[in-house]
Amino acid sequence: MQAVILVGGEGTRLRPLTFGTPKPMVPLFGIPFLERTLGRLKEAGVNDVVLAAGYLPRAIEDHLGDGSRIGMRISYVVETTPLGTAGALRNLADHITDSFFVLNGDVLTSLDLRAMIAFHRRHGGVATLHAIRVDDPSAFGCILRDADDRISSFVEKPPRHEAPTNEANAGTYLLERSVLDRIPAGRNVSIERETFPELIASGAHLVSFVTDDYWLDIGRPQQYLQAHGDVLDRKLELASSGDPALSNRGRFWYVGAVGAPANFRLPVFIGEGVAIDSSAIVGPYAVIGDRCSVAAGAEIRDAILWDGVEIGAGAGISDAILASDVCVGSGARVTTGAVVGHRARIAADAQFEPDARIVADAETIATPT
Ligand code: GDD
Ligand code: MG
Repeated sequence: MQAVILVGGEGTRLRPLTFGTPKPMVPLFGIPFLERTLGRLKEAGVNDVVLAAGYLPRAIEDHLGDGSRIGMRISYVVETTPLGTAGALRNLADHITDSFFVLNGDVLTSLDLRAMIAFHRRHGGVATLHAIRVDDPSAFGCILRDADDRISSFVEKPPRHEAPTNEANAGTYLLERSVLDRIPAGRNVSIERETFPELIASGAHLVSFVTDDYWLDIGRPQQYLQAHGDVLDRKLELASSGDPALSNRGRFWYVGAVGAPANFRLPVFIGEGVAIDSSAIVGPYAVIGDRCSVAAGAEIRDAILWDGVEIGAGAGISDAILASDVCVGSGARVTTGAVVGHRARIAADAQFEPDARIVADAETIATPT
């Protein structure tokens, strides 16, 4: 079985993290998110993967290469202009020999891919779509099915009050190769807005595989934070790529853990080579990358620090994400939904509006108060 992972989006909702880092390379506890997804595929015996890339493809290719380091076969098809979620598949049709998985690149889930293969074979459709129940389907594709799970309608991001069901497209498909013939070549085509509705209208057999799995689209800052919180709360087990050098990197400390310093409020994750002053307060829900430093009296909770971040004395970090090599001056407050881009330097005692997006070269996007 082959798999295509759609990784060509620009990750606009995760800016400024995705200035310089494509969304699939955004880390989840120190390992690129994409590598976690590849680990799940490998666990299910799917070793042959095509990446449909477009935005910053070199960053992905430089890291994963041909996949041999993690025991997989990875090839790349790069779009010069975005072809959309179906156009991207049509564009790599030459690489596909049989039925294949398609994965949105930003989905964190405990879905059992082997169970999905069995379900697909049992139902014999041209496409099986993984679906999950959500409170507000307006941010997702909405999947209406009849009693034997056959899909009767697919509506992408309907207005909230018009959603026909709360069963949402979870962004994992198992497709027969023949579906590729139904996608026009050479232009941008959306699988959600064009291909699925057209297949259904033409009478094709599409099936919904509804499960109660853990599921989260990490493509927005609050969801990215939540993903880390959920792993720290042990709501799901993380897959790693199978590279032992990576899978053991960093330390998790959970409630009741032995050996956590007294100034830690658990749960906490700490990378390698981190220096934390004994008067700093770390956690709960602090995720600190490799080579970070935290000075005296600083406080960090509900926050993610990538690698090489420096936190000055007495600074306060909460409900925030800081990309690599950010430097926070003493006494500064980085809170309430702040997202800080690579190498940004935050002045001593700075404070920001809620949801500030802070970048390196411009002082800030939202003005300091
Ligand atoms: N190669 C390529 N080319 N990839 C693309 C393109 C493109 O033109 N456009 C988007 N992608 C990739 C993104 O990188 C991402 O991994 C995936 O396709 C989905 O795009 P998003 O931009 O994250 O879509 P969404 O989250 O708004 O909605 C999609 O996911 C939901 C579940 O998370 C849809 O599939 C919804 O129906 C679904 O409910
Ligand atoms: Mg998404």
